[in-house]
Amino acid sequence: MAAWDIEIFQAVWLCSFTRKLDVRNITQDTAAGSRLGQRLTIEHLLDPLAMTGGTDAIAGLTQTPKTLPAKYFYDDRGSQLFEDICELPEYYPTRTETAILQEFAGQIAGMTGPCELIELGSGSSTKTRLLLDAYQKLGGAMRYVPVDVSAEILQSSAEQLIADYSTLQVHGLVSTYEMALAALPPTQLQTRTVAFLGSSLGNFPPDKCDAFFAQVIGALAEGEYFLLGIDLQKPKEVLEPAYDDSQGVTAAFNLNMLSHLNWRFGGNFDTGLFDHWAFYNSEQNQIEMHLRCLRSHSVRLDALNLNVDFAAGETIHTEVSRKFELKAMQEYMEKQGLKTLKVWTDAKGWFGLILCQLEPIN
Ligand code: AVJ
Repeated sequence: MAAWDIEIFQAVWLCSFTRKLDVRNITQDTAAGSRLGQRLTIEHLLDPLAMTGGTDAIAGLTQTPKTLPAKYFYDDRGSQLFEDICELPEYYPTRTETAILQEFAGQIAGMTGPCELIELGSGSSTKTRLLLDAYQKLGGAMRYVPVDVSAEILQSSAEQLIADYSTLQVHGLVSTYEMALAALPPTQLQTRTVAFLGSSLGNFPPDKCDAFFAQVIGALAEGEYFLLGIDLQKPKEVLEPAYDDSQGVTAAFNLNMLSHLNWRFGGNFDTGLFDHWAFYNSEQNQIEMHLRCLRSHSVRLDALNLNVDFAAGETIHTEVSRKFELKAMQEYMEKQGLKTLKVWTDAKGWFGLILCQLEPIN
C-alpha cells in the first residue's frame, strides 16, 4: 500500500468518526440564496482539523534531517501569503504564466472544445479566469471543479466566479489532490480537462511525481485532457531572489507553516526561533526552502502526542520547487500515455504550458 493510500484511509476515517457524518460532506451554498446556490456546491473531503491525520507531519519531524510536506503551507493565512508572493517583483512565475494564458487561452479552449475544467490547487482562481473567458466564448454549458485545501479561499473565489459568469456551475472540493482525484464528481459535460498550473508539480520530488501522474491518469477517461504549467530552468540570479524576496514575504510564508501546525495539531512552535533559508540546488535543478532553528529547544504538538527536539542550526526542509525542461517533461508524460498536443512558452523561455491528451490504451 502506497503512502497516499494510507493518508486517504486515515482522513476518511477521521472525517466520519469525528463528525458522525458521511464521508462526503456536501453543502449547497448558504450565502445569498437559491439562484446562486443552485450553481455552487462545495464538498468537504477534508476534515478541517484533520487534513491527513498528521501521520506525514510526525514522519517528517522524527526523521533526520527533518522535513515537512509543502501542503502545510496552505492554511488560510498561507494561501493569502502565497497570493502576496505572486505580486512580488522578484516572483516571475505567476505573471509569466498569466501572460502565456492571456495570449493562448483561446487556442487551448479551441483544442479541447467545451469541457469541464478541473483545477488542482485552484487558490484564488485568478489565472483560471483567462481559461473560463475562453470557454465562455465557445458558448454552451460551463462547469468548473476547483480543488484546494484552503476552504476559505475556495469558498470566496467560487462565490465570486458564480457572480461573474452567469452560466457557470462550480463544484468545489476542499481536498488534497490525492483525495480529490480519487473522488471527482460525476462528469456532466462531454469531456474534461484537468489543469495543474503554477508549477505546483515542482513541489513533488520525482517519486511523488510518478505517483501523482498515476493518479491523474487514473482519474481521466481516454481522450480527456491535462493542462500542465511548469517553471523552467534559468539562471540562479533570477531564481534565488524569487524565493528570498526583499520584503520578506516568502520568509513569512515559510514560517507560517509552523503557525499552521500549531493551529492544526495543538503545537507550541515559536516562529521567532526559526529563520527562512532558500537557495537553488543546481545539481538537482531545484529551489529548496528550509527553516533553520536559531537555538536549541523542544516543541510539543499535543494532537500528535509528539515532542520534537531541535538543536541550534538544525533545519526543517519545507519545500522543493523543481525547475523543468520542456522536452524532458513531454517525453516523461508521453511514456505514461499523455500525448502532447501543443506547448506554449514566453519569449524568454522561463515558463511552459503543455496541453496533452490521454491516449486510448490498447
Ligand atoms: C505554488 C508551489 C508553485 O514553488 O514557486 C512560492 C510556492 N514557494 N514561493 C513555487 C512558493 C515559495 C510555489 N508553488
